[in-house]
Amino acid sequence: MISCPDVQSGIGVIEGKGLKMRVMSVFGTRPEAIKMCPLVRELEKHKEIESVVCLTGQHREMLQQVIDIFDINVKYNLDIMQPRQTLTTITTSVLEKMETVLKGEQPDMVLVHGDTTTSFAAALAAFYQQIPVGHVEAGLRTYDKYSPFPEEMNRSLTGRIATLHFSPTEHNQRNLSMENVTKHVYVTGNTVIDAFQTTVKEGYVYKDTDLQKINFDRKRYILMTAHRRENLGQPLVNICHAVKRIVEEYPDIEVIYPVHMNPAVRDTATAILGDQHRVHLVHPLDVEDMHNLMARSYMVMTDSGGLQEEAPACGVPVLVLRTETERPEAVQAGTVKVVGVNEKEIYQNAVALLTDPAEYNRMAKAVNPYGDGHASERIVRSILDWKIHTT
Ligand code: UD1
Ligand code: UDP
Repeated sequence: MISCPDVQSGIGVIEGKGLKMRVMSVFGTRPEAIKMCPLVRELEKHKEIESVVCLTGQHREMLQQVIDIFDINVKYNLDIMQPRQTLTTITTSVLEKMETVLKGEQPDMVLVHGDTTTSFAAALAAFYQQIPVGHVEAGLRTYDKYSPFPEEMNRSLTGRIATLHFSPTEHNQRNLSMENVTKHVYVTGNTVIDAFQTTVKEGYVYKDTDLQKINFDRKRYILMTAHRRENLGQPLVNICHAVKRIVEEYPDIEVIYPVHMNPAVRDTATAILGDQHRVHLVHPLDVEDMHNLMARSYMVMTDSGGLQEEAPACGVPVLVLRTETERPEAVQAGTVKVVGVNEKEIYQNAVALLTDPAEYNRMAKAVNPYGDGHASERIVRSILDWKIHTT
């Protein structure tokens, strides 16, 4: 169930009081952008809100791909990305550059998303200026501070700073409640479903030229992604070896792996899978190509957070290449399985889905615990409601 205030009657009150609210959305990586752009578009619809977008530029090309598709107005781009950047440089660059932007712009609220270092540092920068923070996708937890690293701690610390908490599910709300965070927590659904609903189209034609060359009618396709910091090194080597074994033993299987731009990921993926002709190592796909490819895949193997939310919504089983997940909803529903980062276990779980129709059918159910595609509207209504009651 989705709960949040219906403040339709209050809309206009803010404007009537001459209190146009300036809301600054700050984000910097691909997944944040995919999940924040629908919200920015919703903010832009409200005349009682002045929406300002500030990109940190933690990602560069992968962020721009999303901005181009959603076509939103960007006022600031801090452009902080460095090749092989460290958590410290991301944090300090965002903190320093945000200070200038916040002092100049003086927003009434800063919105950040999820668990990236951009989110945490931007929230901290806003806190230092005593600007209230709204945390989108709040309350997800693994309760293991090193996994996912550093995201679990980024998300928890952002939650400590935030005044408003927008939780995708009631489970996330309960997590916050266990931490005594009960004020201004709104269950809204996840904005990824808002984005997802507009990207998947019947008869969609891929823009990526590598994808255009693949004949999707003949084979079963596994869509895979792997990029997480805690998987760099041996875990990613294990993942790639498992995939290699799968394509070597199952001639009807092809794997499409849009490889993250992180050189630490590219080096490993290319070294182990580069000469496998049924493994397509492609560039990061734009979100329309990605979502449509996902909807047509046989299964997904991933360490991504977002894919765990998206693939179940289109009935595609997901094997999670991690030791935990902060998204237990689809696991409980049976469409997502956490298989770890051990080569043998990844291989065995994939083989079960490839060879056992009963197992496959058990997992291939369309399950969407993440909302109805109206999360952005609920978030904006909650912000307006909060503003009305605090002025
Ligand atoms: C970041 C987030 C992670 C999220 C992921 C989404 C943190 C700590 N991590 O991790 O939570 O899952 O984004 O993809 O916030 N690079 C480019 N071009 C780009 C993007 C990245 O060249 O457009 C390369 C750069 O060399 C960069 C490296 O990738 O230094 C790593 O990027 P970074 O944002 O530090 O880490 P991610 O693994 O992308
Ligand atoms: N995605 C994309 N192109 C790609 C890989 C992923 O558009 O080549 C999308 C994916 O559909 C999801 C989001 O990016 O919406 C997930 O991003 P990522 O895996 O980088 O981060 P995470 O979700 O793990 O934080």
